[in-house]
Amino acid sequence: MGLLDGKVAIITGAGRGVGEAHARKLASEGAAVVVNDVGRNEDGSFTAETVAASIRAGGGKAVANTQDISTAEGGKSQLQSALDNFGRADILVNNAGILRDKSFLKLEEGDWDSVIKVNLKSMFNVTQPVFAWMKEHGGGVIVNTTSTSGIVGNFGQANYAASKGGAWGFTNVLAIEGAKFGIRVWSLAPAAVSALTAPLMDDKMKAILATEHVAEALLYMVSDLSGKRTGHTLFVSGQSIRELKLVSAPGIPGGGMGAKADARAIAAAEDKIFRPEPTLTIMDFAK
Ligand SMILES: NC(=O)c1ccc[n+]([C@@H]2O[C@H](COP(=O)([O-])OP(=O)(O)OC[C@H]3O[C@@H](n4cnc5c(N)ncnc54)[C@H](O)[C@@H]3O)[C@@H](O)[C@H]2O)c1
Repeated sequence: MGLLDGKVAIITGAGRGVGEAHARKLASEGAAVVVNDVGRNEDGSFTAETVAASIRAGGGKAVANTQDISTAEGGKSQLQSALDNFGRADILVNNAGILRDKSFLKLEEGDWDSVIKVNLKSMFNVTQPVFAWMKEHGGGVIVNTTSTSGIVGNFGQANYAASKGGAWGFTNVLAIEGAKFGIRVWSLAPAAVSALTAPLMDDKMKAILATEHVAEALLYMVSDLSGKRTGHTLFVSGQSIRELKLVSAPGIPGGGMGAKADARAIAAAEDKIFRPEPTLTIMDFAK
């Protein structure tokens, strides 16, 4: 008995990396999976085809979708693949993402546009048709991949952080709008060994940061194990699993409340306006 028997999942960017681990994990728990990816193997074949074929060879259910999700047509095709092949869509994992890192003054318009289009606009393209279907069919679960880079910032990633901060805000709204239709929506900020970072890691580190550890938390998020939880952001790596959320300082009454809140009064009340803890940096998530 799998945790996802009878469910159908769409996972973007699932031809390798974290997305591939997600696809394999959800399929191993009984979900039928649409494995989306535009990426290709060295012989020119699609990585999505390879992953889907391997899941099927292991007795699972999977189909490849090789459309570019940064386009409206590619986005719509994800729901269509799920319906054509498996008849429903219960889970959507918006995972595909790209990097074009440069320090801000070196960033060109193309670097900005391509990252926003693939990482953020794709979420609109893919999610809107799926959300509409889920609304009419009793709900579902959507997980949007964000990054600590977008939440606390990271040098050289203005475009990437903007896209991932956008994904986080997108989740917050869909969680509110989806609540009355039984659509749960999460943000997932992963940290895992990737095609880029693998050459820099020894075997011990690669095992600790294996993508499978992220996929296990995804399984919790999309299965009934997480109950009615929605709107949360989980940071997940092989080292740590924890919620990230905004907290407010106590603050002071504003000027409209008859209080003295001019610039000098604000400066004098800094101990109530700001929180005393040090601000998190990207390095806090590498521990
Ligand atoms: N690996 C990490 O530590 C880490 C940290 C923070 C966030 N993330 C995010 O997690 C997600 C997965 O990261 P990863 O490390 O597995 O990256 P990855 O590069 O290994 O995998 C991303 C996949 O997305 C696919 N893709 C890119 N553009 C696409 C498009 N237009 N249409 C369809 N597929 C497309 C790629 O071909 C690739 O296979 C990304 O959104 C990434 O930003 C990863």
